[in-house]
Amino acid sequence: MGAKAGSDIQATAKRPIPPGFENAHVTPQIYAERYAASIRDPETFWAEEGKRLDWIKPYTKVKNTTFEYGKVSIRWYEDGVLNVAANCIDRHLEKRGDQVAIIWEPDDPNAPERRITYRELADKVARMANVLKAHGVAKGDRVVLYLPMIPEAAFAMLACARIGAIHSVVFGGFSPDALANRINDCDAKLVITADTAPRGGRRTPLKSNTDAALLHCDDKVKCLVVKHTGDQTTWIEGRDFDLLAEMEAASPDCPPEPMNAEDPLFILYTSGSTGKPKGVVHTSGGYLVYASMTHQLTFDYRDGDIFWCTADVGWVTGHSYIVYGPLANGATTLMFEGVPTWPDPGRFWAVCEKYKVNQFYTAPTAIRALMGQGSEWVEKYDLSSLRVLGTVGEPINPEAWAWYDKHVGKGRCPIVDTWWQTETGGHMITSLPGAIEAKPGSATLPFFGVKPVVLDPQSGAVIEGNGVEGVLAIADSWPGQMRTVWGDHQRFQDTYFQQYKGYYFTGDGCRRDEDGYYWITGRVDDVINVSGHRMGTAEIESALVAHEKVAEAAVVGYPHPVKGQGIYAYVTLMAGVEPSDELRKELVKWVRQEIGPIASPDLIQFAPGLPKTRSGKIMRRILRKIAENDYGSLGDTSTLADPAVVDDLIANRMNKG
Ligand code: WT7
Repeated sequence: MGAKAGSDIQATAKRPIPPGFENAHVTPQIYAERYAASIRDPETFWAEEGKRLDWIKPYTKVKNTTFEYGKVSIRWYEDGVLNVAANCIDRHLEKRGDQVAIIWEPDDPNAPERRITYRELADKVARMANVLKAHGVAKGDRVVLYLPMIPEAAFAMLACARIGAIHSVVFGGFSPDALANRINDCDAKLVITADTAPRGGRRTPLKSNTDAALLHCDDKVKCLVVKHTGDQTTWIEGRDFDLLAEMEAASPDCPPEPMNAEDPLFILYTSGSTGKPKGVVHTSGGYLVYASMTHQLTFDYRDGDIFWCTADVGWVTGHSYIVYGPLANGATTLMFEGVPTWPDPGRFWAVCEKYKVNQFYTAPTAIRALMGQGSEWVEKYDLSSLRVLGTVGEPINPEAWAWYDKHVGKGRCPIVDTWWQTETGGHMITSLPGAIEAKPGSATLPFFGVKPVVLDPQSGAVIEGNGVEGVLAIADSWPGQMRTVWGDHQRFQDTYFQQYKGYYFTGDGCRRDEDGYYWITGRVDDVINVSGHRMGTAEIESALVAHEKVAEAAVVGYPHPVKGQGIYAYVTLMAGVEPSDELRKELVKWVRQEIGPIASPDLIQFAPGLPKTRSGKIMRRILRKIAENDYGSLGDTSTLADPAVVDDLIANRMNKG
């Protein structure tokens, strides 16, 4: 991670809970009692918690899970029947039909915002669901969404949920190739996209990217297009359809499909340490219970509050905390199309002031970027509506924490540092506004029902007690847990349950300090965290070697002041190819095309050779050290096939800062 938090664990003091949280949903006493109860008797605890949803047929069974390698199976509320969209819309209509469900703030601050009430949401979602049905989408079919941050993205997710189709949202920053891979992996029947996506005053050509992707997909895949900006796009009759026009003509009535609690709700692709991205599968009942509960308690959400999560719906954070959690709770959720720094670095705070936002949830990378622009951008706005601040995606360095606390929270808003993953569906280790005192840089204590364990990375033995360090695993299931990898249950077991038998392995390292607080120290596998986004180094390497001039590539992370980690690529060129700055640019462009802009290497070092063991394995430890500019302590290099390559790598290193 960019800034190692908590190097001085014992000395870190807890920050008292600011005044005004005496009547929070969770107080210190409630946390202590209910957490203990949730671990002692998960069955009873989750039976009760499941009642936060409306069930068409109530469950009689609650938990049926095993982490035993070879037999891994996770089922919650398995005989219950419900519909996720009905829980996020219909059940609120009587009480809050005229309340705003979604506030939409466009990229352009001078363009009109949209406020969609729960009644309007019901109408839009039913119409879109009927359009999907008319195009032959049925229960269990997959639909890929490749959309800007517009309300139609939420409508589309909920329209799928309403008819029992499984959605897979692909982040708009991914390339046509990445989109095609995902459409093919889940065998989607249909893609929903838009003409173009405005962001920070620029436009991503989503429709033409989709056209390019569909060249690599089955001819039967249809494309529904939201005409959002009105930009010109190519149009293939019989394959492309105008979604908004079809919604106008569709019926506003669409009964929700009764779904089993364990029917899949969505697939979301995420990078791992090996191979192509995995399709993380979340199901209906347990996921929604968990998203709803964590949204309400972690942010101390109250009826009437305006909740803003700045993530993109292309990531799990957007799924759980823009769409499903807030809407299940009848909340008003804010959706922002733009970026923090456009048209100026005051944009987040202007939006907070404009809508009187009560809970604000963002990533440390955004905080660091804005901190660098100076606090005058914050001070210009009235932020008195803010009550709770949150962070997610990577450990927050104490400097950024202090700035967030002082300039945004004015010292009176608790900051919740929420540790979780695409795989976990919702928050796992997090402070709670009225119950758990924060320590800057620590995710603090486990959420209800979550049993973290620190394991010895070598032996896998559980390390008991406080003041310890190891890898982070979870000892038992929780309702929001992913159920499988789409189409590959073996890979699910191998990735998460093989290395440490009987546990869910998170891939993160951690410490537990003297107070029992957890400090996430970053990934222990070949996954890097760039601006809070997970990237598999193997994925970037295979993109690089697919270039005709590249013979070999190795990618590692290095500390980056804003992104947390930057992408450092070592590239060995084909014989006869000359290294040049031109070629560097060409390779960056190539990776953007293959994966997307988020995978762009920050630094490329041309290396005549990579450090390898005599059996040919690349020694990444050495490459990491050189990238971190910390080559004084390279450790044992005696097993290298050719120790001389290291001298060349050091002499020509790109990160001299
Ligand atoms: C990885 C998961 C689900 C949130 C968005 C990222 C890192 C996430 C924190 C935090 C320290 C964090 C971990 C984790 N991470 N939140 N509060 N403190 N590290 O989801 O892409 O699935 O990545 O992000 O390394 O394993 P993701």
